[in-house]
Amino acid sequence: MGRNKGDSRVERLLDAMTLAEKIGQLTMTAAPDLATGPAGAGNLADDVRAGRVGHVLNLTGRSRIAALQRLARHETRLGIPLVFGLDVLHGYRTIFPIPLAEAASCDPGLWERTARAAAADASSDGVMLTFAPMLDVCRDPRWGRIAEGPGEDPWLASLFARAKVRGFQGRRADRLPRGRIAATAKHVGAYGAVTAGLDYAAVDISERQLREVHLPAFRAAVEEGVAAIMPAFVAMAGLPATANRALLQDEIRGRWGFDGVIISDYHAIAELMAHGVASDLAEAAALALGAGVDIDMMGRAFPQGLPVALERGLATGEQVDIAVRRVLRFKERLGLLDQGPADDGVRPARPVRPGRTRALSRLAASRSMVLLKNDKGALPLSPSGPPVYLLGPHAEDDGDQLGPWAGLGHKDPVGTVLSALRRMLPHRVVERLPAIGRGARPASPLRAGVIVLCLGETADMSGEAASRAEPVLPLVQARLARSAAALGLPMILVLWAGRPLVMNETLDRVDAALLAWFPGSEGPAAIADVLAGRCDPSGRLPVSWPASIGQIPSYFGREPSGRPFEPGDRYTLHYIDAPSTPLFPFGHGLSYAAFDMTIRAVAAGRWTGTGTLRVDVQVTNRGSRRGVGTVFLFVRDVVDRVSRPLLELRGLEKVTLAAGEARIVRFRLSAADFASLGLEPGTAPAPGEVEILAGPSADRALLDRRVVVLGPCLATR
Ligand code: GLC
Repeated sequence: MGRNKGDSRVERLLDAMTLAEKIGQLTMTAAPDLATGPAGAGNLADDVRAGRVGHVLNLTGRSRIAALQRLARHETRLGIPLVFGLDVLHGYRTIFPIPLAEAASCDPGLWERTARAAAADASSDGVMLTFAPMLDVCRDPRWGRIAEGPGEDPWLASLFARAKVRGFQGRRADRLPRGRIAATAKHVGAYGAVTAGLDYAAVDISERQLREVHLPAFRAAVEEGVAAIMPAFVAMAGLPATANRALLQDEIRGRWGFDGVIISDYHAIAELMAHGVASDLAEAAALALGAGVDIDMMGRAFPQGLPVALERGLATGEQVDIAVRRVLRFKERLGLLDQGPADDGVRPARPVRPGRTRALSRLAASRSMVLLKNDKGALPLSPSGPPVYLLGPHAEDDGDQLGPWAGLGHKDPVGTVLSALRRMLPHRVVERLPAIGRGARPASPLRAGVIVLCLGETADMSGEAASRAEPVLPLVQARLARSAAALGLPMILVLWAGRPLVMNETLDRVDAALLAWFPGSEGPAAIADVLAGRCDPSGRLPVSWPASIGQIPSYFGREPSGRPFEPGDRYTLHYIDAPSTPLFPFGHGLSYAAFDMTIRAVAAGRWTGTGTLRVDVQVTNRGSRRGVGTVFLFVRDVVDRVSRPLLELRGLEKVTLAAGEARIVRFRLSAADFASLGLEPGTAPAPGEVEILAGPSADRALLDRRVVVLGPCLATR
């Protein structure tokens, strides 16, 4: 293929570079602004000036980024601009709900909008690369990073991947439009399946689990044109993802056609020594480069190990050139090689309107919250009525609304639930109750009122390096709930968490429970929106909610057992000391309305395998108020060459209906929706019965079911 202008520019640069400058382009160094891993030594400006650094992460502020960029452009021999990267996971200055919360909104349009807004926010400061979206499917709430990802299901995770890549990058593959930032699909290699939910622990899963559960979202991101990929810290079947050539080079670059850059995780190349697959930095650098990693994030392995690896013949100059060529093309895609000498290298900013971004954050938060229970119509709170008493540590805090990876969110005010509820309920007394329990009681008995318990995790209990062997409510909070119950008033729980928590006793004590996750900069206002009924709670759990820790990993896409549970039959699938089903299933979430969902039609006809199967589901709001219903469509391939999961998610739609209103939601399924990875990846499903199921969650008892026969002619039974 002929070289285009861009290629010739890249080739000219490559030809002019010394080995040290080439290795510099393969090196990413952290600024001290945000600590996201072990601190590095050295002087960043000196390293840039000497051409030892091609990329910088964690530097914030337009003037500081511009100053360092000017240094790179005007004080280095070749003037190659730097890439500035940051974890813009769920917002930069205005923070959106954590990704697991956004996944609960089941709203791909919203996912794309928030990513676009975050990109505009970050790029206005000169950030041009985000280490997001995090696409690690996870079914283990002991793992703190479950908060950063799209939940337990690969189909939903793939939808999330596409929306986020489009939102961050826009839709042009060749050039990053103004106001957008390059995205990084991370952390490929089944990071969400770490043993026992322990962060950084090894992963050992089947090839099929890897292909069916943990890779689809990354492939979706690649198909959407994601600019970068980050391997996981962890080893899978004994091979660290950072050194996994079969995964990075053969699968992702080869079979998927990924043509972007692969950026190691923080210090991950050097950590190949701790993994026991490299005896020194030279071997570590050679392994990573040979596997297809292009950029060493804070690992020292490329700068210190590559020269030695080349001398020892562990790596070749050709391999270095291949990586440098990809990096220069990456910079070209970011428009960095276009700028003239006068340019300070910080792309022209797109005007950001904080008010609009915060309004979007409030919308996203209200749509992410999940109403777990609502007995006796405890919610919504009416505009007038007895006092509302807030109790618990989250009633008046603002830092913990943001959750982990909160960028520069702490720089802007967040507010508190107490102040937000006072604004939302001006005709009601809204007060903070002093501590109660352990002898402390209100000054005078509370004769009437509603208690709003504000409980849950703090932000530092969630995210990276925050695994919890017991993902439960902190004991002091469970005790507070027990003391509050003694007051004899209706109780509403608002729960902050980055994961499902096993907290059955507290959930039993309250009349209503709203899961707020970590809702972001506008969290308190969004919580008030939902509590007061200004927004209908439309979040649906993207992860199953275990009834006990022993159930973990808990997920709906289980494979069948030869002895499925039969009540009364001991020799069937069950625990003798705990429930065998989650407390709340995937997709659970109440509305203030109530919905019926019925399959009205499944198109019959010749199933040529290239056509589509049409499924019409009627949704009826049989409640007394307008509400948002979410319909999930599942399939189950009943008999195939290998057993297929009991449910596989293949569709979701949200509908807003007035009281009494009904609407048909139409789904279209294609052969790919039934493709069984079976014994051979991508094999078509064996002819035979397939169940089509539709309903409000993965609770099979709530699903409407039809059976179709896949084969030469499609028929419904
Ligand atoms: C961290 C995380 C990764 C993040 C990177 C840069 O260790 O594993 O998700 O993008 O370092 O902050």
